[in-house]
Amino acid sequence: MTVSRGLEGVVANSTRLSDVIGDKGQLIYCGYDINELAGKVSYKEVVYLLWHRKLPNRKELDTFVRELRGERQLPEPVIDFLKSAPRDAEPMDVMRTAISMLGLYDPDMGKEATPEINRHRAVSITAKIGVIAAYFHRARNGKSLPPVRDDLTEAEHFLYLMCGEPQSKEASDTLDIAFILHADHGMNASTFSARVTISTLSDFYSAITAAIGTLKGPLHGGANEGVIHMLEEIGSVDKVDAYIEKALAEKKKIMGIGHRVYKTLDPRAPHLRAMAIKLSEKLGDPKWIKMSERIAQLMKEKKNLNANVDFYSATVYYSLGIPTDLFTPIFAIARCSGWCAQVLEQLEDNRLYRPLSEYVGEPIGKKVVPIDERP
Ligand SMILES: CC(C)(COP(=O)(O)OP(=O)(O)OC[C@H]1O[C@@H](n2cnc3c(N)ncnc32)[C@H](O)[C@@H]1OP(=O)(O)O)[C@@H](O)C(=O)NCCC(=O)NCCS
Repeated sequence: MTVSRGLEGVVANSTRLSDVIGDKGQLIYCGYDINELAGKVSYKEVVYLLWHRKLPNRKELDTFVRELRGERQLPEPVIDFLKSAPRDAEPMDVMRTAISMLGLYDPDMGKEATPEINRHRAVSITAKIGVIAAYFHRARNGKSLPPVRDDLTEAEHFLYLMCGEPQSKEASDTLDIAFILHADHGMNASTFSARVTISTLSDFYSAITAAIGTLKGPLHGGANEGVIHMLEEIGSVDKVDAYIEKALAEKKKIMGIGHRVYKTLDPRAPHLRAMAIKLSEKLGDPKWIKMSERIAQLMKEKKNLNANVDFYSATVYYSLGIPTDLFTPIFAIARCSGWCAQVLEQLEDNRLYRPLSEYVGEPIGKKVVPIDERP
């Protein structure tokens, strides 16, 4: 029996959705290199691509957008929950709970989950997840919840709800590209969770809830928040070298660096780096990007590790004025489209995930000692 710790190198299924080519540093969505998509298509086209495995024509996109934007309104009990959740709760925990709650108010919940019902759930969850994050953020700050709108893109709508008014085109275009870059990523941990959950023929809401719980960890989507905490702790460019040296000596992980599959550059990182540089220059505060560049350089020199998607996305979101604890929820908003695509694909040809484990406990043959005689 060969154990692969962390399932490294194990091929768990086939997919037509995305491919992470680790040695070449390539990410492919349904045949398109991410570098071909970023900047040429919008996030909504990428969602359509992942769900239909083709880019939409104008008519298909218009129909799809109408459908998606028509599903933004949250059920009242979910809004009440967002208003009454503890103000200091972690937004990822609130998002996980609210997505799970949506299942309670799905009128089709008692019925057999047909492909049509599941597709409708994909649309509904993808349309609502950003509203959930933004509404909780408003509510915890004692602010009113703006009504949902159907004339804004996903990125525009999230920023509008979070800030209470539409934001600049530059801000929403930046977020739209970040959404594209985060939409899907092969058999990453949260996608695997979603697939495992739906493979038991559980329900769509449970699968996405499991994925959110998995994404929040600091070794996965939570790393982007860790990057900002690290930059704040370091404080200035001249302190970077000493910080990294000490962290490595103490065998601490540097957030936003390294990757299980990419052994060369994460192809999403250069896009985010370019956006981070542009935004930092505009803000007139190049400190964050300078610190980031030095950290990336040192980690390459000392450990031959590269920056990953979370490293520069942190500075991008920070520069857009987004609060740090919404970074991982933003990742979840974008990845939700990929999770839904993967869940739908799993259901097309389902087989229960049921790996083995190597037993390394005590050998068989122990006898039960009556409870009162046990030491
Ligand atoms: C992503 C990650 C979990 C992949 O890790 P993995 O494939 O399990 O690799 P390991 O954790 O076993 O690390 C392998 C080696 O690289 C080192 N390493 C990997 N990432 C590191 C990091 N971010 N900082 C410092 N050292 C790191 C490990 O210490 C280990 O070194 P060693 O062999 O000398 O003990 C890991 O790189 C990491 O924890 N990165 C920080 C969190 C992060 O940015 N996550 C987002 C991923 S998109």
